[in-house]
Amino acid sequence: MIWGLANSNLALVKYWGKADEGAKHPAGGSLSVTLDSLVTAAGVELDPSLRQDEVIGLPDKAIPKVVSFLDAFRARTGNGSRARVRLSSNFPVAAGLASSASTFAALAQAIVAAHGIPATPAELADLARLGSGSACRSVFGGFVEWRPIRGGSVVEPVAPKEHWDLAILVAVTSERPKDVGSSEGMKRTAASSPYYPAWIESGVTDLAEMRGAVAARDLGCVGEIAERNCMRMHAAAMAANPPLLYWEAATIAVIRKVWELRARGLAAYFSIDAGPQVKVLCARDDSAAVVAALASVAGVVRVIQSKPGDGPRVVAEPPAWVERVVDAPAAKRAVAS
Ligand code: DP6
Repeated sequence: MIWGLANSNLALVKYWGKADEGAKHPAGGSLSVTLDSLVTAAGVELDPSLRQDEVIGLPDKAIPKVVSFLDAFRARTGNGSRARVRLSSNFPVAAGLASSASTFAALAQAIVAAHGIPATPAELADLARLGSGSACRSVFGGFVEWRPIRGGSVVEPVAPKEHWDLAILVAVTSERPKDVGSSEGMKRTAASSPYYPAWIESGVTDLAEMRGAVAARDLGCVGEIAERNCMRMHAAAMAANPPLLYWEAATIAVIRKVWELRARGLAAYFSIDAGPQVKVLCARDDSAAVVAALASVAGVVRVIQSKPGDGPRVVAEPPAWVERVVDAPAAKRAVAS
């Protein structure tokens, strides 16, 4: 089995709406930071004798997306071989921690390696995007921008991970899979939220300002833009029909805690994706104090500490946590057609 690893990413300016459903090109630009400690491992073994792909390690609901990705890859490369795929993440999947980003970036990396196909980062990003839009940003380390261009989209690194030793803390409030996935959520928002056009329009300014704020390593500015961009995405989603609400009570309690920390002079800022977890940005020197404050909020299950990380890589052996998760008796085994 060939193993690829990829890290999740946090969008500071978010992708929430497609210009092209099939090719997963975005309606608006986004800018993310690849996270070092949220990792997915993807193992791929090509087996021409298999009649169906065999996907192990994901909830049943998430398997068709992986099989569609494998189908798209086969259609592109003309290689019809079915695959045995093992997936494992060192964090809760499908719960708003951008597991689809690391999953498809890792899978894209593993599948090209299994085929022995040399792929440039741009080609890898193009492939990862077929699985999940946000995955194309995880093909690069550090700070990454993805924006629509005429008839498609382009993804490119804007600064390496060494550019800024930012602390990114994840306050986990619930580990249960979310009810409405991102693809469905953004589709519903675009189709029925009266605020969707305003969301896309305001994202243009957010992206331009975020680019400058990241380049200047200006935490106050990055944080302010990230918070307003996140709130606008969620406001647009809440106004969809039927409405979308990704938050738990503890999500709001963490937002209030972050604002309270700021009022006390501690520079911390939040962002939330399509789930109840809250990601908090702060300076490395403040991270111990911010972790303690987040952990004290009722309903916070744990706090994961992260920082800007690397792009995907092929490894000779999977990390130790893969065996534990995938081979546990309770692990799901699913065969999809
Ligand atoms: C809220 O990339 O998971 O995390 O392209 O339909 O697979 P699909 O969606 P996905 O959406 C991510 C949405 C987000 C914001 C972001 O990461 O930019």
